[in-house]
Amino acid sequence: MTKIKDIPKVDRPRERFLKKGPDALSKSDLLAILLGSGIKGKNVQKLSQQVIQKFGKGFLDISVDDLQKISGIGQAKALQVVSAVSLVKRFYQEEKSNELIIKNSQDVLSLIYDLRDKKKEHLVCLYLNARNGLLKKEVVSVGLLDKTLLHPREIFHPATELNAASVILVHNHPSGDTTPSEKDTQVVEKIAQAGEIMGIPVIDFIIVSENEHYSFCEKLKKTGTDFDYVADGTQATLFDLLEIERPVYEMSVRKVEKHYFQPIQQKAGYFQLQNRRYLGNKHKLLGFIEDIISEKCGKIDSLCDIFSGTGVVGERFNTPEVKIISNDFLYANYVCLNAFLGVSKDILASVANKISHLNNLQSKDDNYFSKHFGGTYFSLENARKIGAIREEIDRIAENEDERSLLICSLLYAVDKVANTVGHYDAFRKKLDTVQPLKLLVPDFDYSRNKNNKVYREDANALIRKITCDVLYIDPPYNSRQYSDAYHLLENLVEWKKPAVVGIGKKMDRSHIKSSYCLKNATQAFEDLIMNAKCNHILLSYNNTGDSKDGRSNARMKDKDILRILNSKGEVEIFEKEYKAFTTGKSNGDDNAERIFYCKVTK
Ligand SMILES: C[S@@+](CC[C@H](N)C(=O)[O-])C[C@H]1O[C@@H](n2cnc3c(N)ncnc32)[C@H](O)[C@@H]1O
Repeated sequence: MTKIKDIPKVDRPRERFLKKGPDALSKSDLLAILLGSGIKGKNVQKLSQQVIQKFGKGFLDISVDDLQKISGIGQAKALQVVSAVSLVKRFYQEEKSNELIIKNSQDVLSLIYDLRDKKKEHLVCLYLNARNGLLKKEVVSVGLLDKTLLHPREIFHPATELNAASVILVHNHPSGDTTPSEKDTQVVEKIAQAGEIMGIPVIDFIIVSENEHYSFCEKLKKTGTDFDYVADGTQATLFDLLEIERPVYEMSVRKVEKHYFQPIQQKAGYFQLQNRRYLGNKHKLLGFIEDIISEKCGKIDSLCDIFSGTGVVGERFNTPEVKIISNDFLYANYVCLNAFLGVSKDILASVANKISHLNNLQSKDDNYFSKHFGGTYFSLENARKIGAIREEIDRIAENEDERSLLICSLLYAVDKVANTVGHYDAFRKKLDTVQPLKLLVPDFDYSRNKNNKVYREDANALIRKITCDVLYIDPPYNSRQYSDAYHLLENLVEWKKPAVVGIGKKMDRSHIKSSYCLKNATQAFEDLIMNAKCNHILLSYNNTGDSKDGRSNARMKDKDILRILNSKGEVEIFEKEYKAFTTGKSNGDDNAERIFYCKVTK
């Protein structure tokens, strides 16, 4: 068998092509160039001759499967050949056919000249195939254009029946002025979005009058009328163009200068709900939140704090007349929320006795807690005591309410003696936090808890089950997982004594990762909002830009937050300068805390 390298160079297909052009080559030579190489025992020329002989005139209808039946042609080569044939056929068809190809707005205008002098408003749709060939032109509606009256079905139902690949819409303004009205723009946005979802993109929306026209595509692309819809092999779509054009802030931001924070009186021997160091806690912003709720929502009858954390926000509005729904997916938070906002009977007297008993507990021996966390997160002595107290709570608590109050008291006490900067991502190198652990009694008026509910659920699951007047949403802003920062408290509350690993002594936390810290945060938020049944939505979300520490960057973009909230109603932003409690590695000290307020109307 002659190998291709044994053929004199001048006779090889490629060399001949370059020297004499394609007409000097036989069909099998041309195919040989496309195939590139043969296989052992069958050089490329032999292989191409075999193909040409086998398929003859049927070559143009050849399929990948047909080709793969020939030894020496695998899937890659078969695809190469069939793609080349299809490409040529496509161009050939376009040139020969009588199909009306719509390349640009001028082609559209030549098709709808009759619309220019109509006395009533019309909306006409051009249905196109993948080559931008016209399949059908149809009047979709007659009369004033209004997004509330026009249903995407009217446009996209015929499109699916016709197997259309895209659509162009044309609308006339009998007044003569082609400037788009607000209603026109709303219709364009709605239809472009529907097209994107249906997979049948809207290429252009053109407004015509007797003497002029306005093409959204040209305006958004900022081109003149010589612009072609398919440029560089890519079809223009209005959805993409609108996405690029949409301004980040569509509404004004209200800056709030007022100073709110007032220290609270503490009673000796007692602790209050806000006496806890917690990342992102809103204690110092309560006045800011309260002012917005009182201005925008008036008298409220229920509030759901769906990412409660410490629960300070729910607590601020907690009265017998207002039902507070609190929720946090961390067990440690749930127990404290229940202790303060769930328990409805005043059991403080018996709890105070038990707390005194716990404080007097002797703890000389090592236990699970001291073995893992003594000498690092806590002094060894405190760690022994924490482990022993935790064990004792399960023994002495007579019911769930008592258990919640006792564990909550322990958690607040633990927080005071932890050798950390306020969270448990790591412990401080120098162990100088040696004050002895002391449990205090909760200071709380339980007569306020009338109809409250406390949950430990994923916010997106809970939202499907509840209704409320005001929904307050305070999700994590960045990629830092709360389950990592508070693993130690979670472990202490659950008390399943799991294996802990690494320097941080963390247990398996894979089941308590929040979507709001991940790439799909926006999707999770959209799902939450779409399923919310409430009258008012308040979202706390900060303005952390791109920081050096990538973990601090906000997960959701303002543009997406606004788009999502806008689908429920009008949005207003309130902004307040604020120095937050961060993890120590602050990303800048000029944070502004913002509340997006949305009055639900849709
Ligand atoms: C920014 S903090 C809330 C702070 C709270 N407003 C306060 O003042 O203490 C966010 C809270 O959401 C909780 N969380 C995160 N993802 C969650 C989810 N998918 N479902 C429920 N809670 C979640 C975290 O455990 C954390 O406590």
